[in-house]
Amino acid sequence: MSIKLIKGGTVVGPTGAILADVLIDGETIAALYAPGRAPEVEETIDASGKLVIPGAVDAHTHMELPFGGTHASDTFDTGTKAAAIGGTTTIIDFAVQRTGEVIQDGLAAWHGKAEGNCHIDYAFHMIMGGVDDESLKAMDHLVASEGISSFKLFMAYPGVFYSDDGQILRAMQKARDNGAMIMMHAENGPAIDVLVRQALERGETDPIHHGLTRPQELEAEATSRAIWLASVAADCPLYIVHLSASKALDQVKNARDLGKNVFAETCPQYLYLTLEDQLGAPGFEGAKWVCSTPLRSKHETHRADLWQGLRTNDLSVVSTDHCPFCFKDQKELGLGDFSKIPNGIGSVEHRVDLLYQGVVDGKLSLSRWVETIATTPARMFGLFPKKGIIAPGSDADVVIYDPAGRTRISAETHHMNMDHSAWEGWEIDGRVDTVLSRGEVIASGGEYLGRAGRGQYVKRGLSDYLI
Ligand code: URP
Ligand code: ZN
Ligand code: ZN
Ligand code: ZN
Repeated sequence: MSIKLIKGGTVVGPTGAILADVLIDGETIAALYAPGRAPEVEETIDASGKLVIPGAVDAHTHMELPFGGTHASDTFDTGTKAAAIGGTTTIIDFAVQRTGEVIQDGLAAWHGKAEGNCHIDYAFHMIMGGVDDESLKAMDHLVASEGISSFKLFMAYPGVFYSDDGQILRAMQKARDNGAMIMMHAENGPAIDVLVRQALERGETDPIHHGLTRPQELEAEATSRAIWLASVAADCPLYIVHLSASKALDQVKNARDLGKNVFAETCPQYLYLTLEDQLGAPGFEGAKWVCSTPLRSKHETHRADLWQGLRTNDLSVVSTDHCPFCFKDQKELGLGDFSKIPNGIGSVEHRVDLLYQGVVDGKLSLSRWVETIATTPARMFGLFPKKGIIAPGSDADVVIYDPAGRTRISAETHHMNMDHSAWEGWEIDGRVDTVLSRGEVIASGGEYLGRAGRGQYVKRGLSDYLI
């Protein structure tokens, strides 16, 4: 059994930062010692001047997601390797039940894609492509036996993943009974479809119209409707995914002020990028930033409100919603019709860095950075304390982060399977130095040392984040 000591670093957790040495025994953390008090061991890793944080947990990824006639371009191999290099040591990907498919078949297919290919540990949520007697029964089985305790429903995408309000209510009632979390894509899909048709009839075909036909009111309305449906379902726990807009955040705030088990995540793209500057880029360029919910206007207060929501815990988690498509042949499916552009942005490699920039910019504290990218996603989705914390008994998933380092993001150097980057040319004050996954050093000083197949499926328990 290999013993390692991470020495001289500042260990950052959700409750603050301490100078401590971290002893690792095999795959787990054995102890934390005050500086100089640890036993002598053969293998030490010098973390002087660096931050020692729990391996980050990305609770929202879509490797190989089928969408708009194509598939997200990262496989579990390429996507989890990129995640690892960027300091993420666990992903929770969305297994998909296609409409008309049996849930267990969709889940088995997802295990088939991931098994033997992952560089880091992985877990699954389940996308429900339909709510009926059979799938409601399957929810119980997934929670009890398959380690899947969260289910994503869609108020958007009629004809694809969409569930109507009656279906949503039934799934929420079931989740209320079996302890699961309902995750909601909260946008009013039927209303958006009307706006999309009208825009196309007017000849408005450029990527920016993807955003203009998904106004924040339709995100806020769906968010509010989901919250009240969850109330009717005896306060079923509800988690709003990829929240992008101030008015939607207001709905979550109101619910949380009432003490409800309502939570939300946002994503780096909504904290930094905008409708005008990215989605509105000249020609077809904006297709790179077509995602749903869409990027919001820089002339409104969305970005400032989202950063504030992260500080006040009205937004509890930052995930990527990693759903990459290449520009060539994939995003290009929507040339001449924005509604045919596959939806998604790829950022799984960059979330730790992008949020650290929020610390440098004075928008987040160090401990809040760790909480939103690692500890809370682990707690929210039943992975804690195995993941998300540096504590005795936890998996030795550790990132040594160099605050004096610098990261430059480019498609030339990233590891995601994408021919462009949504963050091309971005420079971050900070750098992932070393990454350990269950005690194994898988990245160090820019060199990748891991391998496909070492990542294990993690069965999740119920959320421990509920009020
Ligand atoms: O644009 C996005 N978000 N693509 C992935 C699918 C989803 O709705 O999360
Ligand atoms: Zn089973
Ligand atoms: Zn979604
Ligand atoms: Zn998503």
